[in-house]
Amino acid sequence: MPAPAPVKSLDGRLTMRDGKTIPQFGLGVYEMNDQEAYDSTRAALDAGYRHVDTAEWYENEAPCGKAINQWCKENNVPRSEIFLTSKLMHNKTYDRAYADIKKSLKRAEVDSFDLYLMHSPIGGPQIRKNIWRALVDAKKEGLLKSIGVSNFGKKHIQEMIDQGVELPVVNQIDLHPFMRHPEIVEICEQNNIILEAWGPLARAQRFDHPAILEVAKAKGRDAAQIFLRWGLQHGFVIIPKSVSAKRIASNSQIFDFELNEDEMKEVSC
Ligand SMILES: NC(=O)c1ccc[n+]([C@@H]2O[C@H](COP(=O)([O-])OP(=O)(O)OC[C@H]3O[C@@H](n4cnc5c(N)ncnc54)[C@H](OP(=O)(O)O)[C@@H]3O)[C@@H](O)[C@H]2O)c1
Repeated sequence: MPAPAPVKSLDGRLTMRDGKTIPQFGLGVYEMNDQEAYDSTRAALDAGYRHVDTAEWYENEAPCGKAINQWCKENNVPRSEIFLTSKLMHNKTYDRAYADIKKSLKRAEVDSFDLYLMHSPIGGPQIRKNIWRALVDAKKEGLLKSIGVSNFGKKHIQEMIDQGVELPVVNQIDLHPFMRHPEIVEICEQNNIILEAWGPLARAQRFDHPAILEVAKAKGRDAAQIFLRWGLQHGFVIIPKSVSAKRIASNSQIFDFELNEDEMKEVSC
């Protein structure tokens, strides 16, 4: 019998401030219904992705978890090789946050999330502090392997530094060549907080910009690949979303070329 084809993997990892690692490239599943989330997760794993970014808000933790579990079983890949992120939707109370984490774990059919984020800073300093404490405690209990935040501005990160609390391992914010948030990037980098880029393709709204088209033509790549390569070279974790198996595959073809300094500047519009 011929040996089975090796399973592809795009598992380049960054080390987070808690010593754990995160694949720098993953699939985002925002605005996918159950079937789309299930199919796209499987297509991404087939294409070599090892990281999926879901959220309570997206209402698709269940199909993502199901797709990962089934795919791992069928392909003889240890479940621990797939990095799964989810996020807390409501910033209400410590108890509510802790309960919501448990509900998300159950929906995703996992014992722990590799990464779990406070989805937004909404609520004011005291609520943020309470919610963060719930995430810290859930991590101590082994329910969450790493914890981070999302959509935190400079002042929210500074607030955590001033409170002397454990700092997040990542801050997931909108980052792409047209949205660079230099002040947030600076405070995160100074404190060894990894930037995760949501909307790394600018939701496909700026693919026809002349600077993007020019660099894409020079490199023989499509506009999406130029956006993603830009994020990768900045050291951001990038989680492009697509429901198309073809685009899921082409979005991952970004590890065999490089943008030079001038090209990086040119596409930073
Ligand atoms: N933390 C937060 O608050 C937050 C907010 C938003 C998003 N996120 C996360 O970040 C992920 C990515 O962000 P996003 O989904 O907002 O936007 P995005 O990844 O920047 O763009 C997705 C859009 O680009 C299209 N697309 C993908 N690949 C393409 C290609 N090669 N050519 C042409 N079009 C392409 C997709 O359409 P098709 O699906 O039809 O391919 C979709 O319309 C989300 O899915 C989610 O996991 C987090």
